[in-house]
Amino acid sequence: MTVQGLPMTVPAADLPARVRIHEVGARDGLQNEKSTVPTEVKAEFVRRLADAGLTTIEATSFVHPKWVPQLADAEQLFPLVSELVSDLPVALPVLVPNERGLDRALALGANRVAVFASATESFAKANLNRTLDEALAMFEPVVARAKAEDVHVRGYLSMCFGDPWEGAVPVPQVVRVCKALLDMGCDELSLGDTIGVATPGHVRALLTALTEQDIPVGTLGVHFHDTYGQALSNTFAALQHGVTTVDASAGGLGGCPYAKSATGNLATEDLVWMLRGLGIDTGVDLGRLVATSVWMADRLGRPSPSRTVRALSHQEQ
Ligand code: HMG
Ligand code: MG
Repeated sequence: MTVQGLPMTVPAADLPARVRIHEVGARDGLQNEKSTVPTEVKAEFVRRLADAGLTTIEATSFVHPKWVPQLADAEQLFPLVSELVSDLPVALPVLVPNERGLDRALALGANRVAVFASATESFAKANLNRTLDEALAMFEPVVARAKAEDVHVRGYLSMCFGDPWEGAVPVPQVVRVCKALLDMGCDELSLGDTIGVATPGHVRALLTALTEQDIPVGTLGVHFHDTYGQALSNTFAALQHGVTTVDASAGGLGGCPYAKSATGNLATEDLVWMLRGLGIDTGVDLGRLVATSVWMADRLGRPSPSRTVRALSHQEQ
């Protein structure tokens, strides 16, 4: 149900005028799906997201196909997606864990890649089969080669706020790995709350610790999963700190196959609704985005977990 004029725009002081949404639905969202999503459906999903005005859309991962079978079609998908969105101003970053992944991505012309580190030993082992430092050593040549090829590199950092095996993650531990990723040459970081346990004060504390180390806030993005319903409040805390890059997943799809307690990401529609109310520009057409998530929910055979998608579409679903 769409109600004309809502949400009412009431800008809040000291918030950024514009936010770049880093859309992860096609990667973080689909990597955890039980059913196999056909390559053509994934490609059309990305095209529809681009039509809705998203300009950074993570397309897939060049990881070991046995580790993430759902994204095993990266070689077929990436060229298809690139062709489908070639008329639109869209960046298509992809995940690469190692040099083998980078080779695969570069061979297909990818010009934005992301490595994905962990703030904890347990998740480094579970997700990358490496200790934390071994994982960083694995990324070093990836980042160096990518930079030499003029490829933009994002550095993800998982478990920044809590870990299912280790519990609370001390802020200095997170800061250490952030600095290591930036020293390596990453252009930007994405601070991941993989299992959704962060709360706004914790977000503020981590961002403060990072900016106190002279890390520019412009290099920091936030990546919240919504397990405990905190993703939007955590995003608001990050905006108050000056963060302008927010990761979100259309329809709230998502999870991580190597962290059982990871549920869906912050839904892009919920984010856009809040930002619209705050008068913050995203360039996204909410109606088209909701229609895309409804379309994808039909393909996946279950309703979208996004509250905003449900509210705006329940007559159609
Ligand atoms: P490994 O088993 O230690 O691999 O896995 P290895 O280096 O020992 O190599 C074993 C074999 O795999 C070799 O083949 C390699 O060539 C091959 P063989 O010689 O035996 O025939 N191989 C590859 N094949 C294709 N593509 C590759 C590749 N690499 C090696 N890239 C590895 C190590 C890193 C590969 C594995 O652990 C892996 O693929 N992990 C990916 C896990 C993943 O994708 N997780 C989800 C993304 S992270 C996430 O969702 C969190 C995030 O959203 C932020 C947040 O929420 O916190 C980003
Ligand atoms: Mg994630």
